[in-house]
Amino acid sequence: MTVLNFACVVGARPNFMKMAPLLRAMESYDHIRAVLIHTGQHYDAQLSDIFFEELGMRRPDVSLEVGSGKHGVQTARILERFEAVLEQGPPGGGRYDRVVVVGDVNSTLAATLAAVKLGVPVAHVEAGLRSFDRSMPEEINRIVTDSLADMLLVSEPAGIDNLLREGHAEEHLHLTGNVMIDTLRRLLPKARNRDALERIGVARGEYGVVTLHRPANVDEPATLAQLLEVFVDVSHDLPLVFPMHPRTKARLEQSGLWDDLDAAKGLVVLPPQGYLDFLCLTSQAKVIITDSGGLQEESTALGIPCLTARPNTERPITVDEGTSTLVGSDPALLRQCLRAVVEGAYKQGRCPALWDGNAAPRIAAVLAGPARSLLRRAA
Ligand code: UD1
Repeated sequence: MTVLNFACVVGARPNFMKMAPLLRAMESYDHIRAVLIHTGQHYDAQLSDIFFEELGMRRPDVSLEVGSGKHGVQTARILERFEAVLEQGPPGGGRYDRVVVVGDVNSTLAATLAAVKLGVPVAHVEAGLRSFDRSMPEEINRIVTDSLADMLLVSEPAGIDNLLREGHAEEHLHLTGNVMIDTLRRLLPKARNRDALERIGVARGEYGVVTLHRPANVDEPATLAQLLEVFVDVSHDLPLVFPMHPRTKARLEQSGLWDDLDAAKGLVVLPPQGYLDFLCLTSQAKVIITDSGGLQEESTALGIPCLTARPNTERPITVDEGTSTLVGSDPALLRQCLRAVVEGAYKQGRCPALWDGNAAPRIAAVLAGPARSLLRRAA
């Protein structure tokens, strides 16, 4: 059988838990050779290295070390360095047959653009999601990536509808389910055995988890201050554990809000957590408050109420079937939902179809070819 050489690209934290099960699933095909390329968009040990260790993912074969920068700078660096990697070809000789990208970060977009300009086809895992909010950098990344990719692997039915509406041909679309949930299901028993709750000093089901990192929430000091006020207020009744993204920490320090947060006794601010400790925390929380896309999905899979601090979502199934409610940055709505959670009156969710821990084998089957649309699975 003809060998297929795939360049598999990761760059930022949410990419790692999607690529890990994919690499494992690809290994079961003798004719697939996967080369792992890390752009270096995230480089801190707590945002990158720890995930490789905990997810049991092999070290990258190639590191582009692009680091942080403005969108244009970061994207341009990846374009330049990834283009050279593609031109050089896979280690064993020959050329790359396909680039595999996941998610919606700058690395996803840049790797896609470099690939198609060299005539290398692209498979996009987590294709078709749309928030219809072009002020989000990720929405631009999603639109451009999908418009250039020819193999679109979709996690929820809304993604198929969006792609069909945008004119994509049916044979390019594959409803394969949510690959991030493969990692969650595999590692949940291990995560539950961690002692994160004891170390932090919270009891099972008696605390909330907060994460916040979107520019729309953290870059504008007035919005950030408003959200923090609610968190501090809530933390008097329900302890809140807040693993903090470096971007958020920097904004809090710049805007002089850090001391308010530090003084709140019920609010436990932590550095970014590894995968296992974080899953230990989220899986046993009473509620999750977040602006993360991935966490909306994980809370839905876990059945934990999720108050999403965004006005929209590209993952509507987490609201329609799952545990998420969009509360934007509206303190009254956030408080109202929290009250419902505490009183046990919050909605129950269900885990969407194909979020069953087997998305990676389905995706690998499509990648291994011959390309065959899995659209009928939606029926
Ligand atoms: C990126 C993704 C976002 C994803 C998030 C997960 C884009 C446009 N955004 O946002 O979709 O939800 O990752 O975390 O791709 N920094 C560090 N250490 C690092 C990396 C970054 O301290 O290892 C700091 C730097 O100051 C940097 C800032 O965080 O400027 C933002 O990093 P960046 O990768 O640009 O975006 P994120 O906010 O992490």
